[in-house]
Amino acid sequence: MSTANDTVSMPGAWWSPQSHSGSLGLVFARTVSATLLIVFTTYFWTVIPYVPYKWPLALDLLKRQYEILFSERTFEGLTPYFNIAGTACIHLFGATGYFTTDPDNIEAILSTKFEDYTLGNGHPWKKSRELIRRQFVRVYQQSPQDFTQHVDELLSRISEETVDGVVDLKPLMFEYTLNTTTMLLFGEPHSSMNREERDAVRDNFDYAAFGCGIRVRLADAAFLYNPSKYMDEYGEEAAAEKYAFIVDLWKEMQDSNLVREQLLHVLVAGRDSTAALLSWTFFHLVRNPDVLAKLQKEISSVPTDAKITREEIKKLTYLRCCLNESNPTLIPHTPYEPPLHQKSYSPAYGWRSRQKSPVLLPKGAGIAFSLYHLHRSEEIYGPDSRKFRPERWESGELIKKARPGAGYVDFNGGPRLCLRKDFALMEASYAVIRVLQAYPKIHLTPGVKNEPVGAERQTYTIGLSPTEGVLVSLT
Ligand SMILES: *[C@@H]1O[C@H](CO)[C@@H](O)[C@H](O)[C@H]1NC(C)=O
Ligand SMILES: *[C@@H]1O[C@H](CO)[C@@H](O)[C@H](O)[C@H]1NC(C)=O
Repeated sequence: MSTANDTVSMPGAWWSPQSHSGSLGLVFARTVSATLLIVFTTYFWTVIPYVPYKWPLALDLLKRQYEILFSERTFEGLTPYFNIAGTACIHLFGATGYFTTDPDNIEAILSTKFEDYTLGNGHPWKKSRELIRRQFVRVYQQSPQDFTQHVDELLSRISEETVDGVVDLKPLMFEYTLNTTTMLLFGEPHSSMNREERDAVRDNFDYAAFGCGIRVRLADAAFLYNPSKYMDEYGEEAAAEKYAFIVDLWKEMQDSNLVREQLLHVLVAGRDSTAALLSWTFFHLVRNPDVLAKLQKEISSVPTDAKITREEIKKLTYLRCCLNESNPTLIPHTPYEPPLHQKSYSPAYGWRSRQKSPVLLPKGAGIAFSLYHLHRSEEIYGPDSRKFRPERWESGELIKKARPGAGYVDFNGGPRLCLRKDFALMEASYAVIRVLQAYPKIHLTPGVKNEPVGAERQTYTIGLSPTEGVLVSLT
């Protein structure tokens, strides 16, 4: 198959003085083929807009990336890049990386052309997925009551932490999801560890998540950031004795780095994403009293004695709209996927430019997509895409238009579809219901900022969460 380089180098040979010939027929033939070639290259080789730079090797962009990375508006900082086009590229150190918010491209990466993209470790990832899938079989039988103990603890932690009627829900949501995830994955709650161990898990986890966040953003340059603490501090042997799941992974992979990586994936998916979802849900609810009131009205139909059934939760359609709206529509939990790598140079991988003509991607090109920006697309979500408005989901038209896994990606799509989707939805729904039932007067703490969506400071580790926490008044 010809590559773009072959194609592009051809005209030079044809029009070079050496190959000049006086024959009219030949000139005609050349003109025709040159025209065809131009048509061909314009069709297949759409020039992708790129992020403009000023310094050699685009070092100014690197500097800018660092500024954004350590700013508290990481994703907003990248908005100008993503506004360039649905698919654009960035030149750094002479290499080109591609990024997209085009639903077709995202669908290609996540499902339709999934096999064409390798995700980091490729095979190990598939294996661990199988393992995780086995562990998750149990999950499907779980009822809200399996969360009762955890939600009860959450409620008592909320009342413990409340000072003068005010509490920050964010750290408590991270505690709650860490508790439920460890219980789910390891079959025993993380609470069975002693306090010291528990704090160590939490602190190291936060540290690792922060490190990963940075590494994800550095992409191929991740080796630049590899602190030793991230590698070893609490040896894996100790953990392996304790947790069957880790032992399983170990048996399969025989590589401590891979095991560590897989555990991190699962823990991150489990803790950070649902905690972020819950944090943003309460963050937006208290800032939108009308939405909160409407949700409270819907929730008043379910029993308050913790005997809620799965079916009852499924009937709460407005709750689902609120979760859809605050989950990734406004702030997705995994907004920026680690760059994936293209197998070969080809126009057939589903990537399309804004004009919908196929785009050639070189083999091994770094590619990334931003769900944060996808979910703010006015084309899909309308001119008020940046407002918190759960009603947009009510008629069911939006999800049809957006298409799950393409224009709306809450739990990834295709083969990577989040294994925990059902678990996460139950876990989040049940917590929202019980907190709202326990604190019907919950509202935004007076004096706390209520800015337009996106203006708030955001902390990005692996998921995105509000930097200033989720301060609420309970009485
Ligand atoms: C998490 O588990 C620990 C240990 O059981 C418990 O002390 C804590 O209250 C729980 N936190 C939440 C928010 O559920
Ligand atoms: C919420 O999003 C999911 C995709 O995860 C979709 O299947 C569902 O229909 C959406 N709910 C509403 C009410 O739009």
